[in-house]
Amino acid sequence: MYKNMLSTAMKITPLRQIIFGLFVLFFSSQTIASPSVITGHITTAILASSCSSCHGPNGVSSGPSIPSIAGIPKEYFLEIMLAFKLNQLPSSVMGDIAKAFSRDELTQLADHFSKKRFVPSQQPFDPVLAKKGAKLHEEFCEGCHEKGGSSAKDKEISILAGQHLLYLRWTLDDFKRNKRQATRKMAKKMRKLLKLEGNAGLDALAHYYASQQP
Ligand code: HEC
Ligand code: HEC
Repeated sequence: MYKNMLSTAMKITPLRQIIFGLFVLFFSSQTIASPSVITGHITTAILASSCSSCHGPNGVSSGPSIPSIAGIPKEYFLEIMLAFKLNQLPSSVMGDIAKAFSRDELTQLADHFSKKRFVPSQQPFDPVLAKKGAKLHEEFCEGCHEKGGSSAKDKEISILAGQHLLYLRWTLDDFKRNKRQATRKMAKKMRKLLKLEGNAGLDALAHYYASQQP
């Protein structure tokens, strides 16, 4: 059932843009414009409040397609935000949002969210797919995404274990379609995985990460 839900969502990817387009229209007036333009100095709490409508008050989001951002290592968080700013990462909304903040403000935000605790999402998943995904993870991904994807070697990776299922599946698809460039070594593992298992392998991995709940 979840698999069907996912594949339907995958077929209508343009919907992703529309949903977030509406989100932005709805929230942008209060939340996205960088307030520093008006006040000169701005506290981290105020900056971070412009993220909470989507990512939750402490960086733990409740939406299935919006990632939780609590606990992402600081340097990597800043790297991601700068990449969004330069359109180097595929995004529905983050490209525009990141552009509204200066580098200093993004550093403040990275510092803020990296200190928050990541809370795995309580979400439905398919146990059969998750079991298969666990094996695939061990073979292709554990080398870098350690401890089942809950830890980050060299502290330069987002947390995968407990991340939202739909977001993970979309992100894996971005890698598959080369909309997002993986590092050379990760790209090699992804190619092997896709050759062996195709999309079913990506489904299994996403369900495995989603299955890791407290
Ligand atoms: C309108 C909803 C929305 C708002 C507001 C928002 N985000 Fe996002 N964020 C998203 C979505 C959706 C994604 C996935 C990428 C995309 O499609 O743009 C994302 C992705 C991210 C990621 C990447 C996570 C990862 O694991 O790679 C980071 C970091 C992030 N956002 C930080 C922020 C910060 C900091 C703010 C506040 C300045 C913010 N976001 C405001 C919706 C939002
Ligand atoms: C050689 C190390 C390496 C291997 C192996 C690897 N990855 Fe990664 N992965 C990374 C690095 C580094 C990043 C962050 C930088 C980037 O965006 O490319 C990343 C990012 C990701 C992200 C994006 C997370 C987010 O929210 O932004 C996902 C999803 C992911 N990897 C899944 C996988 C899966 C699934 C496998 C196994 C098929 C895998 N990776 C294998 C190093 C690796």
